[in-house]
Amino acid sequence: MATPLRVDARVLGYLGRALSHELSAVQQYLTHAGLARLWGLGEMAEHFRREALEEQEHAERLTNRMLALGAMPSASRIVPVRAGRSLADLLRADWALETRAVALYAEAARYCARIEDVESWRLFSALHDEEWHHAREIADWLERLRAEPGHPRSPTGVTHEH
Ligand SMILES: [Fe+2]
Ligand SMILES: [Fe+2]
Repeated sequence: MATPLRVDARVLGYLGRALSHELSAVQQYLTHAGLARLWGLGEMAEHFRREALEEQEHAERLTNRMLALGAMPSASRIVPVRAGRSLADLLRADWALETRAVALYAEAARYCARIEDVESWRLFSALHDEEWHHAREIADWLERLRAEPGHPRSPTGVTHEH
């Protein structure tokens, strides 16, 4: 019979924060997909939808890691969506979201390396790299928006609070 795992409370804390982050990211990207569609930006809407699915897959990997450690997943802090009135506003909000994730996963991976929890380290490192890639993509997209004034950037006839 396998020896019961000795679960580090701080690792569980990082997993919980990470799950809250990923579910918040799903909510934000689904909202941005819906807004982009309302604004007639079909291609962008599809991009945001795919991001939401990627973040959902991250939530799934975190959930599975928690279950493997014998912990019941409970995301306790879903962050309100940040949106805006233009595509650039949405991208800026997403850039902020992704850079927060990069910082969280870097810290979590460093901690897991220190206590030699290799499996959790592997997961946090992989997520760190994927969020870094997301942040980089968004930064490039924002740069292109600035460089091409003709690019769609303003919604029409849609108002929303944030
Ligand atoms: Fe993610
Ligand atoms: Fe992401």
